[in-house]
Amino acid sequence: MFISKLMKTICTCTLIIITQIVAADDVSFGVNNPNLGKVLSAEYVDQVDFVVMPNGDGLPQGSGNAVSGKELFNVQCIACHGNEAKGGINGDLAGGHGTINGPLPKKTVGSYWPYATILFDYIRRAMPYQTPGTLTNDEIYALTAYILYLNDIVTEKEIMSSETLPRIIMPNSEGFVWAYSASE
Ligand code: HEC
Repeated sequence: MFISKLMKTICTCTLIIITQIVAADDVSFGVNNPNLGKVLSAEYVDQVDFVVMPNGDGLPQGSGNAVSGKELFNVQCIACHGNEAKGGINGDLAGGHGTINGPLPKKTVGSYWPYATILFDYIRRAMPYQTPGTLTNDEIYALTAYILYLNDIVTEKEIMSSETLPRIIMPNSEGFVWAYSASE
């Protein structure tokens, strides 16, 4: 008898709480609007919603070379990737050329990546690791140039931009095969 009374009370309380939530839904939060996070503006979405394709589609305006890239790298990246992008705590970005097919492949941007364009995309999207999204397009072109320079792919003064970056042929560009053919 006592238990069933208790159950009745619990059920009634639950119903009251549910009614309150549903009622509140009309006002500001509820099942359809949990009031979590915030609505993003179209401008903000445009800022972060970008992809640079291997052929360079999506590369923005701007330019930079390895000379200014080195200065930036030594402030923004050296702590994790090491002097001249080698020997850091978070992986080398240069070197390892010719090792990919050997017993100890050393995968770096220079030895492994098939396209130079995606280096721009990667840095813009993810680096510096602790504050991605803080670099300007000119700075990203300069850093891209510096990493390519350290891998002997471009010269120190060569300007990287939406014109020049897609023309670069990476050392391992032929090293990837399609796992499945289109007919499979
Ligand atoms: C706080 C440490 C830190 C800093 C600073 C940092 N990185 Fe990184 N970086 C990482 C880590 C960790 C990874 C690996 C991330 C992963 O695999 O998800 C990485 C990966 C990369 C890669 C991809 C390497 C590969 O072969 O996959 C590139 C390119 C890169 N970083 C460039 C930069 C540049 C350019 C800067 C400076 C603007 C920078 N990083 C600053 C920690 C850092």
